[in-house]
Amino acid sequence: NKEVIPMNEITNFQSRTEEFFPINWYKEMLHKHPIYYHEKTNTWNVFKYEDVKQVLSNYEYFSSEGPRTTIFVGAKDKQEKTSPIMNITLLDPPQHRKARSLLAAAFTPRSLKNWEPRIQQIASELVEAIQENSTVNIVEALAAPLPSLVITDLFGVPVQDRYQFKKWVDILFQPYDKERLKDIELEKQNAAKEYFQYLYPIVVQKRSNLSDDIISDLIQAEVDGERFSDEQIVQTTMLLLGAGVETTSHAIANTFYSLLYDDQSLYGELKDHIELVPNAVEEMLRYRFHMSRRDRTVKQDNNLLGTELKKGDVVIAWMSACNMDENMFEDPFSLNIHRSNNKRHLTFGNGPHICLGAPLARLEMKIALEAFLQKFSRIEPVEGFQLEENLTASATGQSLTYLPMKVYK
Ligand code: HEM
Repeated sequence: NKEVIPMNEITNFQSRTEEFFPINWYKEMLHKHPIYYHEKTNTWNVFKYEDVKQVLSNYEYFSSEGPRTTIFVGAKDKQEKTSPIMNITLLDPPQHRKARSLLAAAFTPRSLKNWEPRIQQIASELVEAIQENSTVNIVEALAAPLPSLVITDLFGVPVQDRYQFKKWVDILFQPYDKERLKDIELEKQNAAKEYFQYLYPIVVQKRSNLSDDIISDLIQAEVDGERFSDEQIVQTTMLLLGAGVETTSHAIANTFYSLLYDDQSLYGELKDHIELVPNAVEEMLRYRFHMSRRDRTVKQDNNLLGTELKKGDVVIAWMSACNMDENMFEDPFSLNIHRSNNKRHLTFGNGPHICLGAPLARLEMKIALEAFLQKFSRIEPVEGFQLEENLTASATGQSLTYLPMKVYK
């Protein structure tokens, strides 16, 4: 088991609000300490775009296989033998290649094209359920349920079971709370057991009845003569849930937060020019997705970042911070959906590990926003909303649990 690096000691944020939108800290680090050695955690921290990119992609020098890490990977699996695929984020090429190719079979551009109408269907059901001229908690109504219902549908889980499935998912990936550590661990173990018992027979049955879904794609995936076992497929679905559900919910919730609080003219502009949505989505990923960061361990002594790094040193690449590097983005501390190069943000990483689900996440964000724009002419913040009280620590940083807004037909 890896040692987890306590990231809050590096940032030392004074409030949840600051962590939710840490641009002052980024600014300070980018300007004053672009390569920062933090003594207490014994880590090197890099913030500039080119440095972050180099650390993420140059795996000959910066390895994903070190003994210390900044992240928990998915739900903890107490079973002895987990498949190598579960460690995909912790492998370097060439070992990484096989796991990646097997998994990539489920995320081809063709699949995505086929799935688009299904995602649209789920998004419009959720949006249709929101009452006109009312106040809605957009987290509960759209941002939280959409990614988990979508992935459930894409797995090929029968539609009548999707809310039960979502319940397991919510338990499996709920953040650990210091006071309830034991209880939560037990709840998670039970949910994992039920999840496995539910999904395993579905996988077995799909083997002789292939369809257009992720589980069927995983069944058929083959690399160098190797295929997934049924058990590995169930484990892989857990990996995908862990990587793809909370992150995407967070991105959708933050997009609405931004429309309400960063620039209130944006909603109207998007409504009139729906073709701007994809670029707006990229800008939200650049400007409103924080705590995207990954660690690597130095594999060979080098001076690639302009400072002496020794084998075994841990380097943390702060992607969300590098998205605000002036050398890459003009006027980076302001929101601008017309930016021509905003797709170059590194929120999804870079190099061999670049997020496999990025096209899906982008599509969900786009569809969620479009479905909403089609139904509502106007949105407004609710007076007296207290950001600080409605944030909670999660794997993605501080996430909104409640975001009320007024919606008008
Ligand atoms: C990897 C971010 C959504 C599946 C990654 C990495 C990042 C990331 C930064 C790179 C890790 C590294 O360099 O070590 C995000 C963000 C998302 C998102 C910000 C949403 C806004 C998704 C979705 C899925 C997914 C929807 C799939 C359902 C994966 C997988 C990997 C990965 C399987 C591991 C790839 C590898 O190690 O080769 N993600 N992700 N992600 N992501 Fe995502």
